[in-house]
Amino acid sequence: MAAFDIKGKIALVTGGANGIGLAYVNELLKHGLKGISIVDISSHGDEVAAEINKKHGDGTAIFIKASVISKQELSDAFDKTVAHFKGLDIVINNAGIMFDADWEKQIALNCNAVVEGSLLAIKHFGKNNGGKGGVVANIASILGLQKLSGCPIYVGTKHFVVGLTRSLGSEFFWNETGVKFVTMCPGVTDTPLISEAGRFALQGYPKLGEVLANELGALPPQSPTNVAEGMITLITKGENGSVWVSEGGQPVYEVAIPDRTTLRKQ
Ligand SMILES: NC(=O)c1ccc[n+]([C@@H]2O[C@H](COP(=O)([O-])OP(=O)(O)OC[C@H]3O[C@@H](n4cnc5c(N)ncnc54)[C@H](O)[C@@H]3O)[C@@H](O)[C@H]2O)c1
Repeated sequence: MAAFDIKGKIALVTGGANGIGLAYVNELLKHGLKGISIVDISSHGDEVAAEINKKHGDGTAIFIKASVISKQELSDAFDKTVAHFKGLDIVINNAGIMFDADWEKQIALNCNAVVEGSLLAIKHFGKNNGGKGGVVANIASILGLQKLSGCPIYVGTKHFVVGLTRSLGSEFFWNETGVKFVTMCPGVTDTPLISEAGRFALQGYPKLGEVLANELGALPPQSPTNVAEGMITLITKGENGSVWVSEGGQPVYEVAIPDRTTLRKQ
């Protein structure tokens, strides 16, 4: 597969006003992206976009206040992005929460909105819809590749993202759409999602918040910038359907998901 060139392209990042999402915004613009829309519910989104424009040049970023849980708001955010920048090539479905205490909302955000964002990307730049193709990066987690007792439902949502994105990243969809799908699995990354996680554990298990904090605390930490640097590799060089881990401040690496027939318990 030919390398994808970020230069001159337009991107949309959900949850881009904070944490790792904001690091993606900065890193993509450092690599020659022409424009980006930050789709977030944050009350400081306008300030974030103003700061980005100051840093990377006027007109590089717009903030669109929208909740990805609302199909209408997410769809409108795509329309506004295309109307403003006259195109769209890259989508990062990044908005997500670790919040087993309100697991239905968590599933709506971590799963439903990722499906919706993926389908909207195909609608806007899929070759089947008259577009040029492009790239969708969906954000899972290392917890999409392992179990963890502290946040079982979050773990389930992130396994969902891995399965969804690998399957949309199959030959059938590539031939139809020309859209490359890649999965990013960050390890523990220094953001409010991690520092507040213990407070939002599944209810009815008083010790679970502490269990979660201890489990996350035992994993190697890193900065959002490290994940964002890895994202550039995924977008430019990642194979369609590939799954990548960014953990512990180390360079991103691709994982090979084994065929189940090799996993038979001996
Ligand atoms: N921080 C980590 O250690 C870590 C590890 C693995 C995966 N992840 C994943 O990375 C992604 C980003 O996580 P983060 O740590 O940067 O989180 P964060 O809490 O720092 O930022 C999340 C952003 O999403 C926005 N958001 C929340 N609900 C939204 C909604 N309904 N609509 C639109 N935007 C909304 C928030 O306002 C915020 O700006 C998530 O999918 C998360 O699951 C994070």
